[in-house]
Amino acid sequence: MKRIAIFASGTGSNARKIVEHFSSHDDVAVSLIVSNKSKAKVLEMAQSHGIKRLIIDRPYFYESEEIVSLLKEKKIDLIVLAGFLWLVPKYLVQAFPNRIVNIHPALLPKFGGKGMYGMNVHRAVKEAGEKESGLTIHFVNENYDEGGYIFKAACQINDSDSPEEIAAKILKMEHKYFPKVVERVLRNGEKISS
Ligand code: GAR
Repeated sequence: MKRIAIFASGTGSNARKIVEHFSSHDDVAVSLIVSNKSKAKVLEMAQSHGIKRLIIDRPYFYESEEIVSLLKEKKIDLIVLAGFLWLVPKYLVQAFPNRIVNIHPALLPKFGGKGMYGMNVHRAVKEAGEKESGLTIHFVNENYDEGGYIFKAACQINDSDSPEEIAAKILKMEHKYFPKVVERVLRNGEKISS
């Protein structure tokens, strides 16, 4: 059995797609959903699927390393960041080498880094007059939006597209690809490297 922990700060539509994808797999389970926001919609989704939830605050996440013992106790094989907006501390990256993946709604290294999340990314892409954008799935290191790339998919941006339209286009692609890429990383196990 392989076990996934999903970290998410908001709606959790990607988290939901991952949960739904693996609900028909006997050998993979989403065992835990972690959020830094007690009112995040993703926590409602976790509850409706009977998945254990953990709400974290800054002292717990940045001043203690307790989450490592918890994740190890639960035998978590892979941590998936699905719209998780806090920087992952170094101790956690070191405890799960090449075992933390993130999705970013742009073609990294463009439009990544601190403050580049959600609509901020799509507005910046629009303002820069980009002709394409997309998504990047990558391993996580201790810096925002860095770490080895696992998968990218691009889409065209038309001059008339609003940032909201760009966001919708990319979110649809994220839903299509993210669960499959997570499964690939999980099944390739130790062979994956950044
Ligand atoms: C997704 O588009 C994800 O790529 C983005 O947040 C959204 C979460 O949506 N992540 C980042 O911007 C990270 N830098 P969701 O909560 O509906 O899955």
